[in-house]
Amino acid sequence: MSVPPCTKVDVAVLLLCCLSLQGEHQRRLYRDLMKNYNPLERPVYNDSHSLTVRFSFSLMQIMDVDEKNQVLTTNIWLQLYWNDYYLQWNTSEYPGVTNVRFPDNQIWRPDILLYNSADERFDATFHTNVLVNSTGDCQYLPPGIFKSTCYIDVRWFPFDVQRCDLKFGSWTYGGWSLDLQMFEADVTGYIANGEWDLVEVPGRRNERFYDCCKEPYPDVTFTVVMRRRTLYYGLNLLIPCVLISTLALLVFLLPADSGEKISLGITVLLSLTVFMLLVAEIMPATSDSVPLIAQYFATTMVIVGLSVIATVLVLQYHHHDPDGGKMPKWIRVVLLNWCAWFLRMKRPGEERVHLACNNSQRRSSISSVELNVSQGTLQTAAGNMLYIGFRGMERVHYTTSPDSGVLCSRLVGGEGDEKVLLPGATMPSLGGSRGTTEPDLAKILDEVRYIAERFRSQDEDEAICSEWKFAAAVIDRLCLMAFSVFTILCTIGILMSAPNFVEAISKDFFA
Ligand SMILES: *[C@@H]1O[C@H](CO)[C@@H](O)[C@H](O)[C@H]1NC(C)=O
Ligand SMILES: *[C@@H]1O[C@H](CO)[C@@H](O)[C@H](O)[C@H]1NC(C)=O
Ligand SMILES: *[C@@H]1O[C@H](CO)[C@@H](O)[C@H](O)[C@H]1NC(C)=O
Repeated sequence: MSVPPCTKVDVAVLLLCCLSLQGEHQRRLYRDLMKNYNPLERPVYNDSHSLTVRFSFSLMQIMDVDEKNQVLTTNIWLQLYWNDYYLQWNTSEYPGVTNVRFPDNQIWRPDILLYNSADERFDATFHTNVLVNSTGDCQYLPPGIFKSTCYIDVRWFPFDVQRCDLKFGSWTYGGWSLDLQMFEADVTGYIANGEWDLVEVPGRRNERFYDCCKEPYPDVTFTVVMRRRTLYYGLNLLIPCVLISTLALLVFLLPADSGEKISLGITVLLSLTVFMLLVAEIMPATSDSVPLIAQYFATTMVIVGLSVIATVLVLQYHHHDPDGGKMPKWIRVVLLNWCAWFLRMKRPGEERVHLACNNSQRRSSISSVELNVSQGTLQTAAGNMLYIGFRGMERVHYTTSPDSGVLCSRLVGGEGDEKVLLPGATMPSLGGSRGTTEPDLAKILDEVRYIAERFRSQDEDEAICSEWKFAAAVIDRLCLMAFSVFTILCTIGILMSAPNFVEAISKDFFA
């Protein structure tokens, strides 16, 4: 629009004269060339000579790699060069006409097709003009969006390198009439793909022989070698999976009393399943090879599943019913001695337990504890309270639980200052005679024995419980260690087994 009018006119005049000058020769040339031309005729001087077609392509873009349907979609410009014997002219007879263009159906054209096409129309090329120069050299560059079948091996997904073949050849001509020659594929115009790195496009010429005839059937096969860029899948699949499997280890650190152990394990399992479904959506439904990432997910799921089972065991131990009996001996030996020693775990209050065990003799003979009821206290006691001091129990330690310890310490107390208060034991007759006091004391003794008995059984229950709880803690720690090692080994082992893992990581993550 900004072009000045005078320039416009100049251009128009120039174009006009040129067209009129050249147009005359062109028209004559087209008429002369087409006079006896038959597009069905193979354009060779001697019919027993073969026509050489030089073939290649420029890869413009990898548009899609469909793993599920095993189809590669590419934007490709084919390049075909051949010499048409009947399309030559003397340039001095047609001055200014260096080349002419023909629609592809007007002249002979090799029927080169993509053999492994997956297109609906099979031939996906856009039929452009053929450019012919005075020596009869034809240049045919049809572009096209090619869909080709390609066996996409997802074994190493997402660290995979795919090789997709594009096999071109003449559909009807044999090698004796049409000799296909290749030259290097051109990737200078290649537009980078976000998912795939183009590694190389090597090509080779093959000759196939069929049973029918001696004639070779040549084809040109280009292999598009591309490496998947891992960053996307690394960020969206691998890192979450590694994190989730690390979270699964936390199940063993969570205290059993929190009541969240199982829910954490199940949540982790479910989130892994979600990620696995995501992967399954991309992958072809094949059982030929299990993708690396599916392997990793499956292994992680097995680990998490096992950890849930282990957690159930731990919880069962932790909340073990004391009436359910003592721990079997072998479990005690294995868990409480060997494993605890191996894991350097100390039982809470182990020394005190030892002491208590040594004192058990004394504890059982509580009835023989000297009951010292001082008359003076009785006499001077105000109200209907009875103070009784125990002597000889100073070194009895009740160890197991803190709340029983509070009660115990009252029993344990010294002669003078710490005395047991027995609210239930009222004095029937405070100022009564000695004869009535004696049976009362026996009664009190009975009560005290009963209380002691209760405490003892309670302590025994608690000892059993704490033993089970400790066993649960040992299992927890053992599982934490074992599963950590297993998870790390699996992560490294599976991911590193990909042939180009290091290359992919170094190129995509640290580029
Ligand atoms: C064509 O080529 C064959 C072998 O190359 C030869 O025997 C024959 O004479 C040729 N014909 C003509 C017309 O040149
Ligand atoms: C081309 O045409 C010119 C003039 O007509 C003639 O002199 C010349 O020999 C021709 N060249 C060929 C290769 O036929
Ligand atoms: C015709 O084109 C071919 C390649 O396409 C080239 O090698 C040749 O020199 C060209 N001839 C003329 C006269 O331009």
